[in-house]
Amino acid sequence: MKFDALNIGRIIVYITIIFSVLDRYVLPKFHVFDPKRLQEICKESIELYGDDSPNYNRTLLFNDLAERLQKEYPKYVTELKWDEWVFNNAGNAMGGMVLLHASISEYLIIFGTPVGTEGHTGIHMAHDYFTILSGQQTFYYAGDVEKRLFKPGDQNHMVRGDKAQYALNGFALELAQGCIPCMLPFGFLEAVTSTMDYQSFGRTVLITARHMGLNLLQGKL
Ligand SMILES: *[C@@H]1O[C@H](CO)[C@@H](O)[C@H](O)[C@H]1NC(C)=O
Repeated sequence: MKFDALNIGRIIVYITIIFSVLDRYVLPKFHVFDPKRLQEICKESIELYGDDSPNYNRTLLFNDLAERLQKEYPKYVTELKWDEWVFNNAGNAMGGMVLLHASISEYLIIFGTPVGTEGHTGIHMAHDYFTILSGQQTFYYAGDVEKRLFKPGDQNHMVRGDKAQYALNGFALELAQGCIPCMLPFGFLEAVTSTMDYQSFGRTVLITARHMGLNLLQGKL
């Protein structure tokens, strides 16, 4: 086969069609997490260890949440590994994150910062469900003149393809459902163009690949 313009055009069309079919009809069949159920589970942990509870403690909150999530989704949620928190810089915002699940069609992470951050959400081929655990998120879409405020227990659902500016001071459980590999460039670009934190970059790649690989092995895209 000659690599002339016509053939390259054909290949691009075929790849686009295959990708669209996968993205629209195949990947959604592999979603295992229910955003509403996740929100309920978050509220149970917040009740015990959240900002307004007498036992307020973020360490205990995240441990309790991870245990409950593991009980609900034993095949898919891993334990919370405290030595696997990594920095993430994306859209000019910075936070720490720890993975509880990553596969081709979903990820579930605890993301946040105790000092506050602000930036662009990015535009993703995925639905994003951001359930506040502690602290708060403020948020607006272009055209809003008042901020939207999300407090512990609230879930901010950002529809696939939407974009917004957000500020986060605290932590959230974030579920993304869609094409996860498509989101990775946004998550990684600033390591190359700005922070040069290749250690965080490398660890994030390794940890994500491990999660995705183990899920692939059990047939979870
Ligand atoms: C929260 O709990 C952890 C684990 O028991 C403990 O090490 C830590 O000191 C507590 N933090 C606060 C702020 O009380």
